[in-house]
Amino acid sequence: MSDGRRVLLIGGTSEIGLAIVRRLGTGAGGRAVLLGRDPERLAGAAASIEGAEYEVLDADALDTHEPVIARAFERAGGFDVVVLAVGVLGGQAGLDADTGEAIEVMRVGFLGSGSLLLAALRALRAQGRGTMIVLSSVAGERVRASNAIYGAAKAGLDALAQSLGDSLAGTGVRVLVVRPGFVRTRMTAGLKPAPFATSAEAVAEATAGALDGRAHTVWVPPALRYVFAVLRHLPRPIYRRLPL
Ligand SMILES: NC(=O)c1ccc[n+]([C@@H]2O[C@H](COP(=O)([O-])OP(=O)(O)OC[C@H]3O[C@@H](n4cnc5c(N)ncnc54)[C@H](OP(=O)(O)O)[C@@H]3O)[C@@H](O)[C@H]2O)c1
Repeated sequence: MSDGRRVLLIGGTSEIGLAIVRRLGTGAGGRAVLLGRDPERLAGAAASIEGAEYEVLDADALDTHEPVIARAFERAGGFDVVVLAVGVLGGQAGLDADTGEAIEVMRVGFLGSGSLLLAALRALRAQGRGTMIVLSSVAGERVRASNAIYGAAKAGLDALAQSLGDSLAGTGVRVLVVRPGFVRTRMTAGLKPAPFATSAEAVAEATAGALDGRAHTVWVPPALRYVFAVLRHLPRPIYRRLPL
């Protein structure tokens, strides 16, 4: 491997994902590869990162995950960091959500993302080193009635990432789960910012900081860790009455 950093972004047009790739940087001899479903949007994203390459990958096309990711590893000569930033927020309603949209949120957020996570971790395990960064959310820490579908998909992905990370302890492969609160990106465009709202750059900064240490989970902003430590343990009759 060369001296530069090799980074693979799955969800190659994600604002948060791209901010992380920019913040980490690739350096001389490094490489950034973006995987996403839309070639035009990917080309635009790749143009914002010097020397970035891209390839098409749809989270819904489960059969393609392993071969596309394996090919990206082979072409780049492996990756130091893989970032998983695929997700769909949907309308945030629970029972009243549009059925097609609700299914997409669950399909992309858990099934597709979970499959991509497995494929990427298998490739990292095969090379014997590297860090997997998974974009989870505080929404999955304790799921709110107002955000039931997205929150449940994130809870599943977060649990999968944490437990697979545990299974890889001592192998040289590390899983870093990132749990941002409300981030001002196109995903949340038009929504009223929640308390502790932050930016993609702040998520990238916190992620880069955590990468240098030994953390397995990073909350952005950090105060949300303590907010959710309280929320997580509230009795349900109280939790369900909160205006969340
Ligand atoms: N923004 C927030 O408030 C927030 C908070 C906590 C966690 N997160 C999580 O952070 C991650 C990145 O979000 P973001 O804010 O950067 O939003 P974003 O810019 O909308 O990124 C979402 C990404 O998911 C991709 N995607 C959606 N469906 C896909 C599919 N079927 N196949 C392949 N890619 C697909 C999108 O690709 P296209 O360009 O093709 O649509 C895009 O690259 C997500 O996992 C999100 O859930 C976001």
